[in-house]
Amino acid sequence: MPPGRLKGPGVGRLRRMPAAWIGGRVNVAQRPARGRRKRLGRYTDAMAADDVRFEIMTSIADAPAVVAMMNGLYDEDPASGRLDRGRFGRTIEIFLAQPQRGSVMLIRVGGELAGYALLVPYFSNELGGVILFIDELFVLPPHRGRGLGRGLIGFLASARPMDAVALGLEVTPSNTRARGLYERLGFAPRRNTTMIRRL
Ligand SMILES: CC(C)(COP(=O)(O)OP(=O)(O)OC[C@H]1O[C@@H](n2cnc3c(N)ncnc32)[C@H](O)[C@@H]1OP(=O)(O)O)[C@@H](O)C(=O)NCCC(=O)NCCS
Repeated sequence: MPPGRLKGPGVGRLRRMPAAWIGGRVNVAQRPARGRRKRLGRYTDAMAADDVRFEIMTSIADAPAVVAMMNGLYDEDPASGRLDRGRFGRTIEIFLAQPQRGSVMLIRVGGELAGYALLVPYFSNELGGVILFIDELFVLPPHRGRGLGRGLIGFLASARPMDAVALGLEVTPSNTRARGLYERLGFAPRRNTTMIRRL
């Protein structure tokens, strides 16, 4: 995406990030295994026409649609503890204003929103660099199973925003299909369990 097209809060910081972090296209047509080509036909055509885009959200105008997708994610894959859905809009505002804290990545197909991910960087001494944590990932039901989730992760792995040395994510143990996808994409559980204490 040419920098001139970027608008909205935090754009100055986004501009200082590598272009690939701001947005990009992925030719998912090159990715699916031979046997999946037929099922992915609609998307391989769309990808060839550069119709799928992964881009950092820069406009508050997309907020209602993103909040609706956030609700959709937690309806389907409930949170492990209490969840205040009223805070979703605030998360978006914070990410728009302070992109160093994290970003909303939008998945668009033919210009329409098809999904989103929250990308949150943190520095790991153990890994010696930034782990880019995919805090939420959601593809709208009509767009599922066509390579968008895989394409987004492939895009992040090749773009390596913020010079990330690793991608991280959490998966609900019962979400076996999502877990299977992540394992096929090279994610593996860490030995240590993450623990949190709410403050
Ligand atoms: C998980 C998810 C992000 C994957 O995105 P996607 O674009 O559908 O994934 P892809 O097309 O790249 O890959 C398809 C694979 O995703 C996995 N998958 C997980 N949930 C799925 C779903 N509800 N529908 C279709 N595929 C799903 C399957 O392993 C599938 O492979 P299979 O068809 O061989 O079983 C998406 O399905 C989704 O948003 N699911 C609901 C929310 C969710 O569970 N998010 C993950 C939280 S950790």
